[in-house]
This record gives sequence, C-alpha cells and structure tokens, in this order.
Amino acid sequence: MLTVREFEAVAALHMDPVHYDYVAGGARDEVTVRANEDGFARLSLLPRVLRGSAQRDLSVTLFGARASMPVLMSPTAFHRLVCAEGEIATARAAARAGTIMIASMASTVAVGEVAAAARAAALDGDSDGDPALWFQLYLQPDLDDTIALIARATAAGCRALVVTVDSPVLGANERNQRNRFHDLPPGMACENLRNLRGDEPGNVRQIAMSPELSWEHIDWLREHTALPILLKGVLHPLDARIAVDHGVDGLLLSNHGGRQLDTVPATIDLLPEFVAAVDGSVPVLLDGGVRRGTDVVKALALGAAAVGVGRPIIWGLAAAGEQGATRVLELLREEVDHTVALCGARGLADLTPDLVRPAAGSRR
Ligand code: FNR
Repeated sequence: MLTVREFEAVAALHMDPVHYDYVAGGARDEVTVRANEDGFARLSLLPRVLRGSAQRDLSVTLFGARASMPVLMSPTAFHRLVCAEGEIATARAAARAGTIMIASMASTVAVGEVAAAARAAALDGDSDGDPALWFQLYLQPDLDDTIALIARATAAGCRALVVTVDSPVLGANERNQRNRFHDLPPGMACENLRNLRGDEPGNVRQIAMSPELSWEHIDWLREHTALPILLKGVLHPLDARIAVDHGVDGLLLSNHGGRQLDTVPATIDLLPEFVAAVDGSVPVLLDGGVRRGTDVVKALALGAAAVGVGRPIIWGLAAAGEQGATRVLELLREEVDHTVALCGARGLADLTPDLVRPAAGSRR
C-alpha cells in the first residue's frame, strides 16, 4: 500500500462490514465527512524556490511531548473491533513512529496498559521511555466519575487531557442504525470505565453524554488537574476566544470527523478565522480529512501547530495491526517531508499562509 486511501480499501476487505460502516461513516447525510477531505483538495500549494535544505526537521514539541512529525493520532474508540491487540498495537505504532497518541476514553484497553505498551515500545526504540500519551476525556455527568478517570490517566503517565466538547448528545449515524450496531461484541468493553470507583468487580459503565455542560465545568476541571487541558471540538471562533479566556492550554479544531453535527464546515475551511481569533495565545491543532502530506502542509501553513488523524490509523490497524498503523504514519511522514522540500521550505517554520491559495475554480 502506497497511500492512506489504499489502506482504507484493504482494511475494508479485512473488516466486518458493520464495523467498516461504523468507522467510515458519519452523521446523517455525511456532508461534513466529505467536506473535510474536499476542503483540502480545494486548496492549492504555491511553492517557493531556491531556499530549501538537505535536512528538514519535522519535529514538534507540544506540552512537553516531542513528536518526530506534526501528525498525531486523534482519539478513536474501540480498536479491538479491528485488531486483536487493540489499543496496545496502536500505542506501539505511535511510539515506534515517535509521535503522540491521544488515547480515547472509549478504549477497549485500559489506559494504564496502553501507557505501559507505549513505554516499552519507546524504550525499545531507544528514546527516554516517557510515553507521548494524552488522554481524551468526555466529562461525565457525575463529576466524581470524571475525577476517577483523570486519576487513572494521570497515574498512567498521560501528559495532557483532551476534553471533547462537541458531543452534548451522540451524533446520529444512520449506517449504525440500519446495521443495528449499538453494542460492542461480548468480551469487549470501555475498559477505562471498569470498576471506576471501587464498584463491584467486573462492572463496566457506559460513557454518558452531558448536554448540561457549561464553561463552568471547564473552570472546575482546571481546579482538579495540573495537566494541560486542550478542548477538542470547538468550532466557532467566538468559542475559541472564550476557551482562551477560561485558561485552556490548547485547542484541537475538530468536527469529530463529521460524526457529530452534520453540515458543519470542513475544519481546514475554518482554520484561518479560528487561528486569527486565538491570535497565538495557545497552540491550535486540527483534525478531519487529513489523508496526504499536502493536507498536513496546508494546515500547518495556515497556522495549525500539528494535525491529527483518526480513520487512517484504524485502516492501518485493520489492514495489518501494529505494523499497518506504523506504516500509515511513515507514509504520511515521507509525504510531509517530500512536500516541505518541494515547497522550498527548510522545516515547519517556513510554512507560511502565502503558500496556500484557493484552487482555480473554487468559490473561495
Ligand atoms: C472518532 N473520534 C473520536 N473523538 C473523540 O474525541 N473520542 C472518541 O472516542 C472518538 N471516537 C472515534 C471513533 C471513530 C471510529 C472515528 C472515525 C472517530 C473522532 C476523532 O478523534 C477525530 O476527530 C476524527 O476521526 C478526525 O477525522 P478523520 O481523520 O477520521 O477524517
């Protein structure tokens, strides 16, 4: 497989079609799912010449975690659906590629085990052994549950909390409804919610959505953790400003891969206005539809500090387990490096907004 899209085609052959629909699909008519990828295609790159370098440093450091490239793993649920080792394989792939994994709260392996796998693989790869692991959190209606989850993530060595705020209620995925895909198969569960507060052994709770959440909960969270807090799923530039005023440490501009509210704009289309609203006060990351090195370079040129990939990692896992996920990351690394070179850039700092133009014929 030479491309991320080829990985999707091969993954589809390996996957239960119901699970493939769960991963590939999105909310309602999937307008936003398509828009995310189309948004990148509607932008052109306008390269500079005669100012490149033989070596291009692609690394980024975010909240104390170094990533060897500006492509992180966005949090995605239920990896054991597509690969027997589940999130253990994902963590190893992230560590081997030297990038940051944002572990989903809806993981089918407990965060402590995910962190141990990441640490072991990083040591193997000759690094300092600190897992570059962040934890994605849905604030639970019972705040004591939230405190217990933060304690688990902190004890595991996670270095940041990524709080997903675009899910006051669950998005409506009509593929899942048609397929009657509502529950995990027997033997799989959200392991981070097992025995959360010394419940009966074996008890695994369901993740609850919290439509009543407000900015006060973010203030509350700030008082209950020393970890950096990123908000994932803020889309409106006015909310980006409010988030900064509430002292968050970073923002992950995301529409949940088109899985929550359908018909919201592509994240790449929102990025310039979003970055202007934040005005350099905190790093802005982006995910949604990143499939090529050119997509990564466009997002960085328009002001993103790094990008996340969701589905591409699952395609890698489904096609070839840990090796597949590693290969997806390495393909993206090669493409980013190649694109940076062709843009006449010496590294990520040279990626500036003037490199990006609306494609001919696009309405921007
Ligand atoms: C997700 N996403 C997600 N986000 C989150 O905050 N917590 C989660 O548990 C999940 N779970 C999840 C499962 C699956 C199967 C997918 C495809 C996505 C959203 C994810 O973090 C990210 O925002 C998108 O996947 C990015 O878009 P791409 O890269 O998939 O196009």
